[in-house]
Amino acid sequence: MRNPIIGGNWKMNKGSPSEATKMLKELIPLVKKIKSVDIVVAPPFTALFSTIQIVKNTNIMVGAQNMYYEEMGAFTGEISPEFLKDLGCKYVILGHSERRDIFNETNDLINKKLKKALNSNLNPIVCIGEHLEERESGRTKDVIENQFDLTFNDLKSEELSKVTIAYEPIWAIGTGKTATPEQAEEIHIFIRELIASNYDKKTAEIVRIQYGGSIKPTNANELFKKENIDGGLVGGASLHAKSLYEIIKAAEISFNK
Ligand code: PGA
Repeated sequence: MRNPIIGGNWKMNKGSPSEATKMLKELIPLVKKIKSVDIVVAPPFTALFSTIQIVKNTNIMVGAQNMYYEEMGAFTGEISPEFLKDLGCKYVILGHSERRDIFNETNDLINKKLKKALNSNLNPIVCIGEHLEERESGRTKDVIENQFDLTFNDLKSEELSKVTIAYEPIWAIGTGKTATPEQAEEIHIFIRELIASNYDKKTAEIVRIQYGGSIKPTNANELFKKENIDGGLVGGASLHAKSLYEIIKAAEISFNK
């Protein structure tokens, strides 16, 4: 059985160690009794060190929001997976639509980062999802299949098993417009079918597929009840301890039902 994973993607917010620490000091006691959900917070790089210190010996894990695929060298402004690993990061988010759209990251680049992350024993959370016009013109599944093929190109099934796929319809990110549980479930099933046909049924059962896009305490329950939705990647609502906790709680309830 897949246990749910909730990722808090803070984006370019709460990057000062004091702000991050304040939020985490509220979150830690709230989530103390959560057993079945993998909880990951992904603050900006500048708050990673303080976050790792403060969540030590708790059930919260830490992820980075990005990395480069080289270990070291002349890559001004980039962060290597070795640095993240050494710091104590367990997860890394790759291919977020903001990286793809604002910073022109291609499927090929994300594929290189993904292989490197796996090699470095970081757990990747890889985002895929369609734009509004792609959905409206009925191309959602083609877009997802293309991203799947290129982003996960040349991965072994043991490697894919370690990946969390975040299905994030871009029209739902930061817009307050959530996919309905049925819309999300349809694509989650489709992604699982892609895994089964490109790899095998067993791998398709193992890989966690989380939903992302305007998850809130008020819609989390209905989304997580769906059989193929294994938690969520949360942006805006992950900036506040109470709303993030309520979403984590919804994931715990969905798992134990
Ligand atoms: P949102 O962001 O929850 O603010 O829509 C989700 C994401 O970008 O991962």
